[in-house]
Amino acid sequence: MGKDVIIACDFSSREQTLSFLDRFEGKKPFVKIGMELFYAEGPEIVREIKRRGHRIFLDLKLCDIPNTVQKAMRVLSRLEVDMTNLHAFGTVAMMEAALEGLTRPDGTRPLLIAVTQLTSTDEERMRRELWIEKPLDEVVMQYAGLARSAGLDGVVCSPLEAGKVHAALGAEFLTVTPGVRFADGDAGDQKRVTTPARAREIGSDYIVVGRPITADPDPVEAYARCMAEFVG
Ligand code: C5P
Repeated sequence: MGKDVIIACDFSSREQTLSFLDRFEGKKPFVKIGMELFYAEGPEIVREIKRRGHRIFLDLKLCDIPNTVQKAMRVLSRLEVDMTNLHAFGTVAMMEAALEGLTRPDGTRPLLIAVTQLTSTDEERMRRELWIEKPLDEVVMQYAGLARSAGLDGVVCSPLEAGKVHAALGAEFLTVTPGVRFADGDAGDQKRVTTPARAREIGSDYIVVGRPITADPDPVEAYARCMAEFVG
């Protein structure tokens, strides 16, 4: 599985997104489309970016009863995205149903990865509000194990956890990691950050990079720098 940089296109409109992508001219970076853009513009924005030749990670984090998720995934499979995701919290039954829904009649399907615990959830809230008494890192590994046993391709995790996930669940089990910043960059609201070079050393398969590229005055140069550090 090739390492790659995925640009988080956290924009609220089609115009903003396409004018951002236009700056890349001939290059076709792998992009992430999240809830904001998808809910604002609908599935057509996915088709349009796909037609322009980009690979797409559709980050909608599904979580519902297995039957509903299966049917939703069946619809998403027709959008021809390359990667999509769900919450491992929905249980193995939901993840298995999702995989079934995502698989096209010809047997192909996008990669399916699971969110374990959101990075915005800390151990204190998990215990006090969700009544989960175990340490956060054990919960993350337990949910990652469930995703693997359901047949998923990998998890979203911190680059700092990527080595541990690979050690426990195998080198083939993908780690898709946000929270990446250049050594001389601003961390913003991300707490546990890593440089692209460090993420490569730890073994992330894909890094998801938003503002260090999208907010840079020269996003094309920032993307090239990120690729050089992470992919080499
Ligand atoms: O701008 P920044 O590089 O922080 O963007 C990171 C992207 O990864 C955002 O789209 C954010 O929603 C997403 N993400 C994250 N942490 C997670 C899961 C997704 O930062 N645990």
